[in-house]
Amino acid sequence: MKSEKKGKAGLPIAPGSSHHNGRAGSARGGSEKETEMSREIDSQLFRRAMSHFATGITVVAATDPAGRKYGITANAFASVSLDPPLVLVCVEKQIEFCPVITEAGHFSVNFLSAAQEHLSRRFAMKGIDKFEGVESRTGVTGAPLLAGTLGYVECSRYEVLPGGDHIIVLGKVEYIEVTGGEPLLYFASRYRLLQPHE
Ligand SMILES: Cc1cc2nc3c(=O)[nH]c(=O)nc-3n(C[C@H](O)[C@H](O)[C@H](O)COP(=O)(O)O)c2cc1C
Repeated sequence: MKSEKKGKAGLPIAPGSSHHNGRAGSARGGSEKETEMSREIDSQLFRRAMSHFATGITVVAATDPAGRKYGITANAFASVSLDPPLVLVCVEKQIEFCPVITEAGHFSVNFLSAAQEHLSRRFAMKGIDKFEGVESRTGVTGAPLLAGTLGYVECSRYEVLPGGDHIIVLGKVEYIEVTGGEPLLYFASRYRLLQPHE
């Protein structure tokens, strides 16, 4: 096995980082570059670093036990497996949607289009009926679907795994629709539009 240079906390040292003091927020001071080598990772820096991984935006939706449609804006979404076809979404434990998705047998993941920034903002709000005034329908699995998206997957709940202050919900894809169009993107805490690379 290749031997790695270790930091004080036993974590690998990033190439090019000459030192660290083991405390959150080391190597600041004027430059854009920030490094972090401690086990006690500074949460703001962690968020900032993760925000530099560009994503699309989804609305993950399910029906609560009373039959009410519920959904959240989520970009912690990924495709996981082809056989069986699995996707995952990470859901914060504290939010109201968490018990809804863990109890619902099915959920949908709706891929937002460039024209749907308002829906991303709406479905990220707390304490409102998010589907009120929003064009939607019920999918074949019973999960709510938004109109005007790039497409969606409808899933049955496959497994729920621990993920720190989030849960990782694995869904088995039962139904797919692809409409296509221009996506809504998220990068460095801002909405973006896709630009062709030449
Ligand atoms: C761009 C963006 C991405 C988000 N991604 C997630 C996510 O992946 N998982 C999550 O739990 N919350 C995510 N949120 C926050 C939730 O949308 C928000 O906490 C939720 O809608 C709260 O609603 P509730 O308390 O009614 O359930 C995101 C918010 C925004 C603006």
